[in-house]
Amino acid sequence: MSTTFQLDTSTSRANPTPAPMKRLTVPAIMRRKFEGKTEQPLVMLTAYTARQAQLLDPHCDMLLVGDSLGQVIYGLPSSLQVTLDMMIAHGAAVVRGSYHSLVIVDMPFGSYQQSPEQAFASASRVMAETGCAAVKLEGGAAMAETITFLVERGIPVMAHVGLTPQAVNTLGGYMARGRSQQEHEKIISDGQAVQDAGAFAVVIEGVIEPIAIALTQTLEIPTIGIGASAQCDGQVLVTEDMLGMFERVPRFVKRYNEIADLISETAAKYAEEVRARAFPGEEQTYQPKK
Ligand code: KIV
Repeated sequence: MSTTFQLDTSTSRANPTPAPMKRLTVPAIMRRKFEGKTEQPLVMLTAYTARQAQLLDPHCDMLLVGDSLGQVIYGLPSSLQVTLDMMIAHGAAVVRGSYHSLVIVDMPFGSYQQSPEQAFASASRVMAETGCAAVKLEGGAAMAETITFLVERGIPVMAHVGLTPQAVNTLGGYMARGRSQQEHEKIISDGQAVQDAGAFAVVIEGVIEPIAIALTQTLEIPTIGIGASAQCDGQVLVTEDMLGMFERVPRFVKRYNEIADLISETAAKYAEEVRARAFPGEEQTYQPKK
């Protein structure tokens, strides 16, 4: 297993940041929230490949190698089929492709829920084999003991509460959470529990806005919203969703571009030129030296 995290520019097509920047650290991210306020919201996007990481890195504070890669990259029906090996392969690629952002790798379903010891075995592999700075795991109070176990052993943890996609079968779908008083109170106490357990930040996904606002106002750690509130300390989106790669996206996604159309149009143009023998042209063809 490679432990080299630098991009080999001599053999790569990539165009990495010319002057490597100092990478953000977990304490630096935590310091962005001071006395309950985050002056400049934290920017996080998902990244799954080295090239994608290179392009996103200068614009982000954190890159999340999300287990959403199951659906986005592998065409799986949910994140439940994602394995630790998949997360490690993509995590290492994102670390190689980035210089500035804090890289966080998602712990996949089944790799941490059994016991704190199982979580440590999985998370230590992720940290050692990718070079990432932290892991993310889903769950609130139920995961508090595990979070403490990891943090006390040198593994920073970003928590994830509210709509937790790995629990889709118990939640019954991907709908917004916290509409009943009971669920509302549970999400608030989950947020408090993960902070008390030692998480350095918490993703709040798919909740009614008052919950996200209340957690952001009461927690000392940064809250990162997705389908939550603009008042969170930061925001995250799945990059392909915000680029417009998919026709169907959740309501909370803003499509900043129409990348799927661009790819289709470009592929159609290429196909047309191949069929017309217009590609390759003179410029793309080698001739004997004169
Ligand atoms: O897997 C993922 O991409 C995530 C984010 C959407 C928060 O967990």
